Formats: sequence, C-alpha cells, structure tokens
Amino acid sequence: MPVISVCSPKGGVGKTTVVANLAYAFSRSGSKVVVVDFDPQNALRLYFGLSLNDERGFVTLPHNDWLNSCINVDKNLFMLPFGKSNKEQRTVLDEALKEPDYFRKVQGSIFNNPDVLVIADFPPGYSQALESIASVSKMQIVPLLADAASVSLFSQLLAGGLMDGLVGGGLGYYIVLNQIDNRIKLNREVQNFAIQNFKDNLLGMIHRDISVTEAAGQQVSVYDYNKNSAAAFDIENIALKVAQKLGFDVKKGTMIINPLRQNG
Ligand SMILES: Nc1ncnc2c1ncn2[C@@H]1O[C@H](COP(=O)(O)OP(=O)(O)O)[C@@H](O)[C@H]1O
Ligand SMILES: [Mg+2]
Repeated sequence: MPVISVCSPKGGVGKTTVVANLAYAFSRSGSKVVVVDFDPQNALRLYFGLSLNDERGFVTLPHNDWLNSCINVDKNLFMLPFGKSNKEQRTVLDEALKEPDYFRKVQGSIFNNPDVLVIADFPPGYSQALESIASVSKMQIVPLLADAASVSLFSQLLAGGLMDGLVGGGLGYYIVLNQIDNRIKLNREVQNFAIQNFKDNLLGMIHRDISVTEAAGQQVSVYDYNKNSAAAFDIENIALKVAQKLGFDVKKGTMIINPLRQNG
C-alpha cells in the first residue's frame, strides 16, 4: 500500500490534523496504517494518546528497522514518533536519510510494504526527510489555509513547485484547503480561486470547526468526537478521494457519510 506525505510550505495549516484524522479514517475502515512523524516537534503522538513524557522515537535509530519502534495506538493503527532529540542527533539522522533509496532499503519493512498504508507528517517547508521520501511517496497532500497569504503560495505552486522535496513522487501534490469559513468573503474568494486553478489537484476542503481542536485535546479523531460535525464530514470525503486516487479498496459501507449533509 502507498506512502502519503503530508507537507506544506507553512506551519499551523493543519498538516498534523490531516495526518491524524486520515489515519483514523483508514484504520477504522480496515486498512493497516502506520503514521510517521518527521517533525522534530514530536507533536503527532499527542493525537494518539501518547503522553507528553513519552520520549520514544526513531530519531536516534537511523540504522535500525523502525518497525521495531512502532507503537500500536489503536486497532489497525500504529505510530512511529520522531522522539526527543538534540541538534547532533538530527544531523546524524539527516545524513543517514541521504543514503540512496534509504526508505526502500533500510526501512523497507514499513515503507515498501504492500500491507500497510503509511501517512507521514513533516515540519513546515523543506526537510531532508521530505526529499528522501519522494522516491517511495505516492502522493503529497498539501494543506493550506483559505487566507490572503495563501494566494501567493498558490501561484508559486501552480508555477511548478515550492519546496524542493515536493517535486516528484508518484501522483504529485494535492491541495487541501483548511479552515474554510463561508461567512468570510475573502475566504470564499480564495476557495473559488483554488477551485478554478487547481481543478483536480484540489483534493478537498475542511471547514473551520471547533470539533477539530476539541478532538485533538481529547486525543480522539474528529469523527469519534462528533461524527455529525462539518469537519468529520469533510475529512471522510477527503479519505474517500485519496483511496480512489491511490486505487486501494476502502471496504464498502465502512466510510460513513452523514446522508443529511451529502448535498451540503
Ligand atoms: N479545520 C480546522 N478547524 C479548527 N481548527 C483547526 C482546523 N484545522 C486545524 N486546526 C487547529 O489549528 C492548529 C494547527 O493545526 P496543525 O494540524 O497542528 O497544523 P500544522 O501541523 O500544519 O502545524 C491546531 O490547534 C489545530 O487543532
Ligand atoms: Mg504539525
């Protein structure tokens, strides 16, 4: 099964939110999912019930098989935390990641495994991990906010790339417009711009929704927090589209869409 990279030139746009909630969606529907945190902030674990004091991670183990460091956090759901690190340790890791085909050879049991779906979270902008993973990544999901600052990023993306690591890699990049709010005119205009310009490369939109922050606070998925929320609906739609694009089976009837909102 494929490797999905979730990356963006900007921070605070919803990368970690998207990784965690897509992982919950796919594991709930029966896929075996491994989420990998390449952000030294080590925050993804907090979406999966790991404690703040839990400092385990792969950062200090560049030559070991990371399969041994996966933590089972839910049914079908495994987490590979970055871990607590200092600058030297991160430099050693980055050097190891430069080895050609590192993810296929050294970490093949996770990243080249037909039975697992890998969803990887990245720090904002360029990172060595993002560049190295391009050789195994099937798709890059790029969350962006529907605000004024994003418009200049849109044109850079449309002009053919923004971050070196984003180029290449399977199907290429797909935008997720996050924190949309139809009450705000500028926000609607940014949505229209994205729809017209990105066309099929616009994977979906996620409403600004308090359920997202509340769910994160309780370390559960938005779906489990409130399956009737706008954001849960949006994320299920995005998960379905990802599955279609990557051509893997989401068991029929397990991706639940609220029928009341289907036309909304
Ligand atoms: N659709 C949304 N509605 C409301 N809050 C959101 C939404 N998406 C993300 N957030 C909040 O915005 C903050 C940044 O999101 P996060 O996923 O950590 O971004 P990133 O990983 O890109 O830095 C978090 O507090 C998150 O709960
Ligand atoms: Mg993040």
